[in-house]
Amino acid sequence: MRLKSLGVVAAGCAALLFLAMGPLTAADAPAVVKAPDSITMESKIYKKHTKSPVTFSHKKHAEYKGITCDQCHHVYKDGKNTWKEGDAVQKCEACHTETGKPPKEMKKADAITKYHAEALHANCRGCHKKMIDKDSDMGKALKGCTGCHPKTKK
Ligand code: HEC
Ligand code: HEC
Ligand code: HEC
Ligand code: HEC
Repeated sequence: MRLKSLGVVAAGCAALLFLAMGPLTAADAPAVVKAPDSITMESKIYKKHTKSPVTFSHKKHAEYKGITCDQCHHVYKDGKNTWKEGDAVQKCEACHTETGKPPKEMKKADAITKYHAEALHANCRGCHKKMIDKDSDMGKALKGCTGCHPKTKK
């Protein structure tokens, strides 16, 4: 009898503990990482930004037809992208670490692998070139620099 009621109490405690821990573990768990809606891109690796911050609608991009997460997110192993949806995401700057302009003689691919802005521009603009008709309103809006780096008031 005594043992049995102890068991019930223990079970109750476990259930309470479970309830209390529920939301906490969900927020802490790195197992499935959710994508943010909008990201202001103003990387801290730059001593000084020469261009205005880029507001990037992560949500819209993830929802555009034909775009998958792994077109932007990668972890390469032996030349293959092993990143999959739900995995943790490192900032681009974790691997594309250099600021400033790459030296002229550097190959484009190496510049992209090393330089942050080169990687971002290759990713963002590379896809826009492929997916957006340059004569459409969207194409025109994104053609120059201000489509992403809006003019700032002086
Ligand atoms: C499709 C979007 C897009 C367009 C168009 C674009 N950029 Fe960027 N650019 C970015 C993003 C994203 C970053 C990374 C910003 C960050 O994380 O700080 C960046 C970073 C930069 C940086 C390094 C950070 C800084 O502020 O100094 C420079 C310089 C830059 N861009 C110049 C340009 C110039 C010049 C043009 C036009 C020829 C241009 N960009 C067009 C998206 C764009
Ligand atoms: C068009 C490109 C693009 C697509 C598609 C995309 N992302 Fe991202 N994502 C980014 C960029 C850029 C960042 C910011 C990286 C940085 O700050 O260096 C980011 C950041 C993230 C972050 C980290 C946010 C933070 O606050 O640290 C997560 C998580 C993420 N993405 C998950 C996803 C998932 C899941 C999908 C698919 C549903 C997805 N992304 C699709 C470009 C993209
Ligand atoms: C874990 C390290 C790592 C992170 C984080 C990372 N990259 Fe890369 N990225 C690489 C490596 C390594 C290569 C070169 C791969 C090769 O040449 O085989 C590369 C290549 C690229 C390329 C050229 C080839 C391709 O896959 O299109 C672009 C563009 C690029 N990265 C953009 C980004 C952007 C944008 C982000 C952030 C959303 C990002 N990278 C985050 C390591 C990383
Ligand atoms: C895999 C393809 C792809 C990549 C990578 C990509 N874009 Fe886009 N982007 C699109 C498409 C498709 C549209 C919408 C075109 C339309 O509606 O006609 C778009 C539209 C936009 C717009 C205008 C509408 C909006 O969503 O706010 C901005 C700004 C923009 N992109 C910025 C960026 C930046 C910054 C990056 C890099 C961090 C980036 N894009 C990377 C495909 C891409």
